[in-house]
Amino acid sequence: MNEKELDILTKVNSDTQVWRPLEDKFGRRHTYLRVSLTDRCNFRCVYCMPTVEMEWIPRSEVLTLEEVVRLVKVFARLGIDKVRLTGGEPTVRKGLTDLIRDIKGVPGIKSLHMTTNGSTLAARAGEYRGAGLDGLNVSMDSLRPERFSEITRGAKIEPVLEGLAAARQAGFETLKVNVVVINGVNDDEIIDFVDYAAATQSHVRFIEFMPFLGNGWNRDHVLPYAEMKRRIAERRDLLPIETEPSAVAKEFAIGDSGGTVGFVTSVTDDFCRTCNRVRLTAEGRLKTCLFLAAKESLRDAMRAGASDEDLAESIHVGLQGKWAGHPSMEKWIGSDDKAMVQIGG
Ligand code: 5AD
Ligand code: SF4
Repeated sequence: MNEKELDILTKVNSDTQVWRPLEDKFGRRHTYLRVSLTDRCNFRCVYCMPTVEMEWIPRSEVLTLEEVVRLVKVFARLGIDKVRLTGGEPTVRKGLTDLIRDIKGVPGIKSLHMTTNGSTLAARAGEYRGAGLDGLNVSMDSLRPERFSEITRGAKIEPVLEGLAAARQAGFETLKVNVVVINGVNDDEIIDFVDYAAATQSHVRFIEFMPFLGNGWNRDHVLPYAEMKRRIAERRDLLPIETEPSAVAKEFAIGDSGGTVGFVTSVTDDFCRTCNRVRLTAEGRLKTCLFLAAKESLRDAMRAGASDEDLAESIHVGLQGKWAGHPSMEKWIGSDDKAMVQIGG
């Protein structure tokens, strides 16, 4: 074999090597990618948007939709089969419907979901569904109009309720209402939300309040999962539902109502051991854990002419920096400077 042939062979080998599955140091396979499309949002939720002055990412530094699609293709070749679009608020991005169609068309992507504040759904739920979006998580932290406005610093609940109705009509495979439970703010509505889930035969997910930049978190504001469940069980039967090992929520049927509830217990009982998620920030950095700073800039690599193989290798390298799990929230506070709105849940 001459030198040139050897060169080619080495290249072929390393090319195929690079497309190995996304396994981290702890043997966790990663099949789920969460893509933040923007750090901007038309709401200002108190638990998400910091009170401190925020610097928005300049538009030129945010991934273009073409760049997003290219990266999804790379991730798909690495074994990612589920994608979730997040923000900020993903629906503020122009061209979202086309993006949904493009991502759903990427070979290997089996399901595409989105987390949204629901503000555009009344007008667009059918369009998103038609383009191939499989599921929606809609944030709604209060059922009381005035309180909803307080929590979102000024948004109205009616369009969100209309949006949920439109989404139900559009026939998504999954439709969940996300409720971040903050002790002393909306914890008195847990039963109302359970009744809502039962009455609308839908799914409500209670999320323990997590600390992010400038959101005033402290332990006393967390209503632990065990306590939420205890309060609900006083009024309703909660029947455990079997979920996938990588599921983040503990799920229950509400008696035989047809409604279901879930609990995301990030604070009191984390699910790091079975984590299968990686994140892409709006400016195209790889983030291997919600609680780790974003690192490798795939955007810079792309804009400097990286090949798909180079990008895949960068993703592997980044994944090796993932930790076994996050420390307690008190320990973690202050170790990352990103607000939730810049991460995308
Ligand atoms: N704690 C828990 N969940 C949060 N989210 C945003 N901020 C927080 C927080 N501090 C999640 C919510 C919301 C989504 C956009 O991000 O689930 O629905
Ligand atoms: Fe916007 Fe969602 Fe954050 Fe509220 S929680 S400010 S709707 S990104």
